[in-house]
Amino acid sequence: MKHETHITDAAKAAIEAASLILTDDAPHLHDPVVGPIYQTSLFTFKDFAEMQKTFAGEGQGYIYSRVGNPTVHDFERRIAELEGAEAARAFSSGMAAISSTVLSIVSSGDRIVAVRHCYGDAYRFFEKLLPRFNITVDYVDGSDADAVEAALPGAKLLYLESPSSMVFELQDIKRLAQAARAQGITTVIDNSWATPVFQKPHTHGVDLVLHSASKYIGGHSDTVAGVVAGSKALIARINELTHPFLGAKLSPLEAFLLIRGLRTLPFRLKRHMDSALFIAERLRAHAHVTKIHHPIYSNHPGRATLAGFTGLFTFEVDDTIDIPRFTDLLKFFRLGVSWGGHESLIVPVAASLAQTPGVNSFDRFSVSPRAIRLHVGLEDPEMLWADLENALAKSIKT
Ligand SMILES: Cc1ncc(COP(=O)(O)O)c(C=O)c1O
Repeated sequence: MKHETHITDAAKAAIEAASLILTDDAPHLHDPVVGPIYQTSLFTFKDFAEMQKTFAGEGQGYIYSRVGNPTVHDFERRIAELEGAEAARAFSSGMAAISSTVLSIVSSGDRIVAVRHCYGDAYRFFEKLLPRFNITVDYVDGSDADAVEAALPGAKLLYLESPSSMVFELQDIKRLAQAARAQGITTVIDNSWATPVFQKPHTHGVDLVLHSASKYIGGHSDTVAGVVAGSKALIARINELTHPFLGAKLSPLEAFLLIRGLRTLPFRLKRHMDSALFIAERLRAHAHVTKIHHPIYSNHPGRATLAGFTGLFTFEVDDTIDIPRFTDLLKFFRLGVSWGGHESLIVPVAASLAQTPGVNSFDRFSVSPRAIRLHVGLEDPEMLWADLENALAKSIKT
């Protein structure tokens, strides 16, 4: 079966809009095509007056790289622009962005409402650390907007991830952000899957939009980083309460790698979308595949805010497929967590369940052990499909 294009007009428009934003480079001395890496821990001042002015927060002056750095700031500026937000703050990991953002909002005695299939370590952060500060989390089926709204009264924070990890459940982010705002509840979303190219939740009323920049934004599986975007006031709160003290700042070198990743993000996403949809369609027609978890097959209103789809989705196989044999037969899909890089990856849920018994949202919220997550990379899609088809054929139990 030949590969045909799956790029929609909405995705094309989103790719063009992001490409235009990303051509807006900050001016640098000598006009290099690629900006420098300010690999410095501190910044000096020409005299007392300049130091005093900088400490008073006047002008663009930098003091110390744990708190601010021009290369890191260049990355933050681009993310804020892509998300349609006033400001952004970068971190040394997506988890640092999640924990520093959440902790900037909640206090002892507060309650969070979170979608049940949120990223595993976000779930474990909620379950293991937050109870020590007397903060509770109620998990909801994020696809059921009525259920989410019913859980909201009295909450301090609504935590979304649309589509959600592993099962790619969609949430009606416009409706939920509006409902939360009406009750003075801050909404946070993990937008790592869609990226700011294909979904801009802040423009739909979500207060803070965060990313594991380790995924598509970096795009080359060589950087672990995170970022959050939102209003100046909420980012200032993170800067005042958590970012400088928890200390998980982004390094200038990694900011440089992320800026490099951003330059090709729209074009990489075009390829991920096209190839993943091609492979999802082939899998859907396969006799031993029982289910595909991909937002393309959903009629949920949460699809309306997605301009396109990326390369990560899950499928389930019937009992006749020997899952360990299937994964071991693959030549191009490598067994590995994370996603968003150039390479194709596979995670069988059955293998990852054993890692964290008792504190895994999968066993609590029933993700099938027959589920297998794929990241469709930038390789030739027909070659990738041939690899999957061959491994499926040879892993049927006799
Ligand atoms: C959806 C999602 N959010 C957040 C994270 C955490 O990001 P990081 O690994 O950069 O800390 C991940 C990591 O896999 C993720 O998949």
